[in-house]
Amino acid sequence: MNKQEKISKITTAVVREMKKRKEKIAMLTAYDYSTAAVLDQSGIDILLVGDSLGMVILGYDSTLPVTMEDMIHHTRAVSRATKRAMVIGDMPFMSYQVTVEEALYNAGRFLQEAGAHGVKLEGGREVAETTRRITSTGIPVMSHLGLTPQSIHQFGGFKVQGENDAAAVRILEDAKILEEAGAFSIVLECVPATLAKTITQSLTIPTIGIGAGIDCDGQVLVVNDMLGMFEKFTPRFVKKYAHLNVQMKEAVQKYIEEVRTCTFPDKEHTL
Ligand code: KIV
Repeated sequence: MNKQEKISKITTAVVREMKKRKEKIAMLTAYDYSTAAVLDQSGIDILLVGDSLGMVILGYDSTLPVTMEDMIHHTRAVSRATKRAMVIGDMPFMSYQVTVEEALYNAGRFLQEAGAHGVKLEGGREVAETTRRITSTGIPVMSHLGLTPQSIHQFGGFKVQGENDAAAVRILEDAKILEEAGAFSIVLECVPATLAKTITQSLTIPTIGIGAGIDCDGQVLVVNDMLGMFEKFTPRFVKKYAHLNVQMKEAVQKYIEEVRTCTFPDKEHTL
């Protein structure tokens, strides 16, 4: 039995402990019951129901159109499938920026209606008060710094963040502010590996990197990217562990052929 199998359920305390023990945290996104069940059974530590579902599931060009109702719907499906992993619901654009009260109400919905164990919020010091309020209510918050896709129009595209000294210092300061505000972990997206390493060493809470190098306490990828199911574009930091789109096309083409040639259903599949 390896170290991972001994842990029955992943909690905020477990991920903090994993950082202390220098055990890497493996996180993936999930959006539906069947995929979440496979990822959970495979031993994934954290399942993020990311608002990336707007792009890889719903076909939008960005995450901005995603609503609370979309997120609750998909988070429910993932929670139903999950026994061991920690399930984090991604708070969509405009669900936490208007008032702290609205943010708290929406964060609560993820736990109460969707069975999530925590929520994720994009942003730095500007969401510190909101983070403090949500965590003080007992809802674990995962923060998200660097390339925060909900600010895509402000960044002018999907670009690396924190490349100059001033920007790097600001991201490091934000990370410390969010830790102090109660966040239990921080996603670092598309920042230089050296900056991610400095941040990781400066915090007691774990960092989870995506395009942020090897020194983060854990890694996250969008599941549809790493399984090779999303062909529209592939960021350079994505490693494809499978090419399921190819297998799916082959399987569907075989099915079409068998239907057309009357070889399916055969005897075995006839009641
Ligand atoms: O929405 C998402 O999938 C994310 C991850 C890329 C961290 O925020």
